[in-house]
Amino acid sequence: MADASPIKENRDGKSSSSIMPDDKIVIKTKHGELSLEQLAEAQHGMAHLMKEVGERYHVLYYAAKALNWKLAQYQLNQVIALFRIGATLRPKFTEDLNGFVKTHFHPMSEAIRLEDWRRFEEAFKKGIQGSDQFHEKYGYGFIHFVLPKNPPEMYELNPEK
Ligand code: HEM
Repeated sequence: MADASPIKENRDGKSSSSIMPDDKIVIKTKHGELSLEQLAEAQHGMAHLMKEVGERYHVLYYAAKALNWKLAQYQLNQVIALFRIGATLRPKFTEDLNGFVKTHFHPMSEAIRLEDWRRFEEAFKKGIQGSDQFHEKYGYGFIHFVLPKNPPEMYELNPEK
């Protein structure tokens, strides 16, 4: 890394940041010094986030189908958290990602709260159509999420059985 000025330590010796001569903020980690710019670069981009969204969307569907509403809500919350990370890290998508949470995920959450499978399935499918529209909008019209035909094998969907 460039010529970072030495990290100034607090009395407790735990201080973790300083300003470089060219005004870059430097964070001291246990592995060495990193600039905020480097840390920002190292955050997951949309491809990484979306891969996880797709996987959790799959689990979400089959959890709800098995009437495992707690697992369904958990997966949906994680999907929403991924959307929020995307909205923060990629300002280009902020408005659409936040809008998507309201338009598609809130109704899904409501269906889960009501434990209403039909309502859930309808909202879930609208979500897939919505994702196709946004992928198209941003030049990724070749990406279409397809719900896998089989439930995920790594979760016990019906633990009470
Ligand atoms: C339930 C909704 C959605 C699902 C299930 C979904 C799923 C996916 C999947 C599986 C990928 C491919 C990831 C990979 O293999 O690398 C992808 C890519 C992408 N999605 Fe979504 N998506 C959804 C909604 C959205 C929305 C609302 C936006 C934008 C507002 C969006 C923007 C993108 C972009 C930009 C990429 C390409 C990322 C890249 O390669 O840089 N998606 N999505």
